[in-house]
Amino acid sequence: MAIAGMSGRYALAAVVSVLGAIGSGHAQAQGNLVLYCAVQEEWCRAMVNAFERKTGIKVAMTRKSSGEFYAQVKAESANPRGDIWWGGTGDPHMQAAEEGLTQPYRSPNMAGLHDWAVRQWQQSKERAVGVYAGALGFGFNTKLLAAKNLPEPKCWADLLNPKLKDEVQVADPNSSGTSYTMLATMVQLMGEDAAFDYLKKLHRNINQYTKSGAAPAKATSTGETLVGITFLHDMVTFIVGKAPIKTVAPCEGTGYEIGSMSIIKGARNLENAKKWYDWALTTEAQSIGAAAKAFQVPSHREAKPPDEAPDFRTIKFIQYDFAKYGSSAERRRLLAKWDKEVKSLPK
Ligand code: F6P
Repeated sequence: MAIAGMSGRYALAAVVSVLGAIGSGHAQAQGNLVLYCAVQEEWCRAMVNAFERKTGIKVAMTRKSSGEFYAQVKAESANPRGDIWWGGTGDPHMQAAEEGLTQPYRSPNMAGLHDWAVRQWQQSKERAVGVYAGALGFGFNTKLLAAKNLPEPKCWADLLNPKLKDEVQVADPNSSGTSYTMLATMVQLMGEDAAFDYLKKLHRNINQYTKSGAAPAKATSTGETLVGITFLHDMVTFIVGKAPIKTVAPCEGTGYEIGSMSIIKGARNLENAKKWYDWALTTEAQSIGAAAKAFQVPSHREAKPPDEAPDFRTIKFIQYDFAKYGSSAERRRLLAKWDKEVKSLPK
């Protein structure tokens, strides 16, 4: 076939590429999906690959922290660019739900879910559903601890030890859902005044407030920090890679997350967002995490928690009030107070 203005080789390449496009017509016909993914990159990619293979829908994925996606969805609300927000802690999803940034959806796959996942959906007026759960805690680098000849920290109170000055890392609660979970946990565990007193004292021992919640787990694995405050499963990801880390479920009790999923209001690819939503609630999709070294507890009752997942039966949990701490007014108030009273303090 001759194409004007092209040499034989280029003409052939053009024909092959046109035929290729026709051949992949199935994928094209299924359209696109813009995914905001707030878990570890490796898990996001594994989910995207599996979904694309299954449906032929082309997924454009961005990975950010929970609070960052909340801010982005809000900033884009007049002209939404994302279709589905999958993963990340539940509180910012709850706030977005209350502010009308996400939309209600009743998936046919709700029936298989644990009660805590369904409760999240009810409390958010059917806008955010639970996809996994994770326990907050901390981990320490066993080699660094031994080198410093320090006792093993077992409680939140132990992290105030002056010998841990500049040895503790946690994320900034504005960007990170993990760190906001910690802030809200302390308020629920100790009462607000004592919690802020604790966080101000802890500030002296903090070497860095990171953007992402899981970053302190990596820093603990490399010895960049002695202690990292994260969800326990994020420490486990490095422990299975043989990092010298021990995890601690604090003795006073701790909070937890209900990792959530929401459809963004005004989603341009609404039908495909629903397809992702339905699929993400299946055992098939919820079994992908473990292979990507993500050890959260899945929200489907029949999806087996990974063997490496922290054992929730051994952890003392608070009754985390997701409705209150995910409410727009409370989350905004606590973050502003933390900025003013904790982050701005000199060290
Ligand atoms: O993917 C790891 C993880 O800890 C999730 O369990 C959690 O929802 C998310 O990261 C929180 O990330 P961030 O603190 O950066 O918002």
